[in-house]
Amino acid sequence: MLDGRRVLLVISGGIAAYKSLELIRRLKDRGADIRCVMTANAQNFVTPLAVQTLSGNKVFADTFSLTDEHEIGHITLARDCDLVVVAPATANLLAKMAHGLADDLASTALLVTDKPILVAPAMNFRMWGHPATRANMATLKERGVHAVGPNAGMLAEGESGLGRMAEPAEILAAVEGLLSSGPLRGLKALVTSGPTFEPIDPVRFIGNRSSGKQGHAIASALARLGAEVTLITGPVKLPDPPDMKVVHVETAREMLGAALGCLPVDIAVCAAAVADWTVSNASKEKRKKDPNGPPPAIELAANPDILATLSEKGSARPRLVVGFAAETENLLTHARAKLERKGCDWIVANDVSPSSGTFGSDFNTVHLITQGGVEDWPRIAKADVAERLAWKIADSVKGKP
Ligand code: CTP
Repeated sequence: MLDGRRVLLVISGGIAAYKSLELIRRLKDRGADIRCVMTANAQNFVTPLAVQTLSGNKVFADTFSLTDEHEIGHITLARDCDLVVVAPATANLLAKMAHGLADDLASTALLVTDKPILVAPAMNFRMWGHPATRANMATLKERGVHAVGPNAGMLAEGESGLGRMAEPAEILAAVEGLLSSGPLRGLKALVTSGPTFEPIDPVRFIGNRSSGKQGHAIASALARLGAEVTLITGPVKLPDPPDMKVVHVETAREMLGAALGCLPVDIAVCAAAVADWTVSNASKEKRKKDPNGPPPAIELAANPDILATLSEKGSARPRLVVGFAAETENLLTHARAKLERKGCDWIVANDVSPSSGTFGSDFNTVHLITQGGVEDWPRIAKADVAERLAWKIADSVKGKP
C-alpha cells in the first residue's frame, strides 16, 4: 500500500498521456496522495479537468500563475512529496532534464526537486534509439534517475519498436518498489550475465549460446527488492534493465575486472556463461587463409574463474555467493561437485541438454543446491525463477552478518 505517500506526477505531451489517467486512478486506489503538473503539450492530449477530477487535487500547469505561486510555490510543490514520477516522459522533457533546462513548471519542478525521480519514457522508436536520447538517458541514470520501460510494441504512429510507455501496472510496481522499503534496501548486489566472447582475431571469436535472459531477470528482481545492483553483462541482444548500473564486457578477463571493481558487495550472483578458455595466440590482424597450408592452430589457455575468485575467503567476500551449473547430464552430481570446487554458497543447477529447450527459451527448470540440501523447482518462467531466487536471497541475507 502507498497510504499517505505523496507522489508528484509530471505529465508531458505524448499520446501515452491518456494512460496517466489510469495511473492516477491506480495510485489513488493504493492510497497515494497525488499532485499533478501538466506541460502545455500534455493539455492537448488530456484535459486538466480530467486529471483534477481523478487526482482530487488542483492541477498545476503554469509557472507564472500568481495564484499558484501564492498558494504553493514551485519549489514547495517539487519538494513536498516522496517521489516525482514523469509519465509519459517525452524525448524533449528527458533532454531538458539531462541539460538542466527550466522553461516551464514541469522542467522547473524537475530541476528543483530533491526527491527521487522515476521516468516512464514514451516516444517513437527512432527517437528512443537516437544517440542524443541515449546520451540523455545515460546522463540521467548516472545521476540516479530511475526508469521504467519503454516497452516494445505497436506505437501510435502505426510503427512498431521500443518506445511504448510502460503500462500503468508496471509504473505502479516501480513506484511501490521505490516507496516501499524492500527487503534488500541498503544492500549491494552484483550479477554476471550473458556469454563471454574470446577473440581469435579482430573479426572472429569463441562464444556460446547464452541469451542473458536469466541473469538479467535476476538483476531486475534483486533491484525490485531494493538492492543496489550492478549488472555485468557479456554481449547480449537484451536492452539494459532500468534501475541499475550496467557494465558491458566482452571477455572473461574483462568480466572478472568489472566484478572485482564492484567489491565490496553483499550479494554476488554469477549467472554468466563464461568461456572456460581464452585464445592465447589471438592475432592482432585478421588471420588469412593459406589455400595450400594446414588450418591455423588455435591455442587455448584457461580463463580466470570469476565465481571461484569471488567465493575466496577474505574481507571482501560477499555475504552470499550464488553460482549456476548448466549441465547436460548427471545434473545434481556435477552441480554438487561444482559447489564444493568453487566454494560458493548456493548453486542453481539447470539442465541445458538440447531436449530441455532451456537455451534462448523464456522457461527454466532449476534445482537450488545449498549446504542444507536440494530444492527442486517446477518448470517456470525465467522471470519467476528470478523472483523466487531474489526472495530466497533476501530471506537468507537478512539475518546474516
Ligand atoms: N563461472 C565463472 N567464471 C568462469 C567459469 C564459470 O564465474 N571462468 C561461473 C558461471 O557463471 C557459473 C558457474 O561458474 O555460475 C558454473 O560455470 P560452468 O561453466 O557451468 O562450470 P565449469 O566450471 O566450467 O565446469 P564444467 O565446464 O565442468 O561444466
